Amino acid sequence: MYEISLMSQSDLKEAYEIEKTTNPTPWSKENFFSSFEVGHKSLACKYNKRIVGFIIFSHIKKESHLLSIAVEKDHQRSGAGSILLKTMINQSKVLGAKKIYLEVRSKNKVAINFYSKFKFIKDAIRTNYYSGDSPDDAVLMSLDI
Ligand SMILES: CC(C)(COP(=O)(O)OP(=O)(O)OC[C@H]1O[C@@H](n2cnc3c(N)ncnc32)[C@H](O)[C@@H]1OP(=O)(O)O)[C@@H](O)C(=O)NCCC(=O)NCCS
Repeated sequence: MYEISLMSQSDLKEAYEIEKTTNPTPWSKENFFSSFEVGHKSLACKYNKRIVGFIIFSHIKKESHLLSIAVEKDHQRSGAGSILLKTMINQSKVLGAKKIYLEVRSKNKVAINFYSKFKFIKDAIRTNYYSGDSPDDAVLMSLDI
């Protein structure tokens, strides 16, 4: 059974291993760790006490911003991502958010499908938002909560 908990500093290393294997252009280790230090909110999804997924988001007044979500490959399509996103939505509501924003690569059809299932809508395309080895446009999506 999947269990959601607040991510602690000691969970970061395990979570970063998932980031590296699931994101074509992963955050740098420094960005990943400093995200924790600057106070972004993060949740871990554990299976048998081991981290199999995580979500990171920021919250300011009436808005939350989903910054990163990933589930280890062997656990994908088993509901872990949904539990993480549902918990993030609930926490955002409790914090007073009315809207959640995110950006996703236009080529990441799996993630776009995932967010669409949660009724996120496509607001805009930001052309050439992602540069580097895997250039791509960003799809900006949002959800009223
Ligand atoms: C996106 C991601 C977090 C989803 O997590 P997950 O645990 O696999 O998702 P769930 O099992 O909860 O799936 C929920 C729904 O998402 C959609 N979905 C998930 N995986 C999918 C796939 N491979 N193909 C099509 N739709 C998919 C489906 O609608 C699914 O519902 P269903 O299984 O009832 O059809 C996961 O695929 C992942 O880690 N991807 C790599 C990292 C990434 O792209 N992050 C997003 C960056 S913006």
